[in-house]
Amino acid sequence: MWSAAVLTLYPEMFPGTLGQSLAGRALADGLWSLDAIQIRGFATDRHRSVDDTPAGGGAGMVMRADILAAAVDAAAARHPGNPVLAMTPRGRPLTQSRVHELAAGPGVTILCGRFEGMDERLFEARAVEPVSIGDYVLSGGEVAAQVVLDACIRLIPGVMGAASSGEEESFEAGLLEYPQYTRPPLWEGRAIPEVLRSGDHAKIAAWRKQRAEDDTRLRRPDLWERHGGAPVHPPSGAQ
Ligand code: ADE
Repeated sequence: MWSAAVLTLYPEMFPGTLGQSLAGRALADGLWSLDAIQIRGFATDRHRSVDDTPAGGGAGMVMRADILAAAVDAAAARHPGNPVLAMTPRGRPLTQSRVHELAAGPGVTILCGRFEGMDERLFEARAVEPVSIGDYVLSGGEVAAQVVLDACIRLIPGVMGAASSGEEESFEAGLLEYPQYTRPPLWEGRAIPEVLRSGDHAKIAAWRKQRAEDDTRLRRPDLWERHGGAPVHPPSGAQ
């Protein structure tokens, strides 16, 4: 069974959103397991402290490498073979291709940061992979860990009903997905694009490809250029 281990100061935040809907059903069906581990359980002093002041000065507190390493080691003993990720805005951005790799493996162990961050020595000492879910700062890694797990769990064999329903979605071809419409055909004066009602499957496929490319170029020039599209220049006069 695919195993998710989460190291956190807030184990009661789990399963959280993962207890509902697709992931929640899959959890109940035994398609994946969840082990939420309290980091404070690895503290060594009588105050159960897990953090200390930042070396060099500055605001906030830093999670201690020795405490985190003990927690990671305990998780590794219970979940052998799981790659260990740490959620941090300093991490490498999560991609759908990394999600596919994680979903195809034995599971994942995720360390959730709080405070100003984690002692940097942990990352090398325990081969911890720093991962970010985007360029904004959350109050802790727990919500980010649920994002990573949700993205993985839906790809575990048997979790998504129709296996094909994932093949055409955003990022699978390196582009955003084409837009979708459903009944009613006319709503508030807006019609569904005529081509989608034509029954001409070749024309529909061509229209969808064009919209996927146009929308990616406009909304995600970074993805578009990585896909091999011509560089997108900001409109002249734009700042
Ligand atoms: N922790 C705080 N902000 C984060 C982010 N953007 N991604 C991952 N972990 C985080």
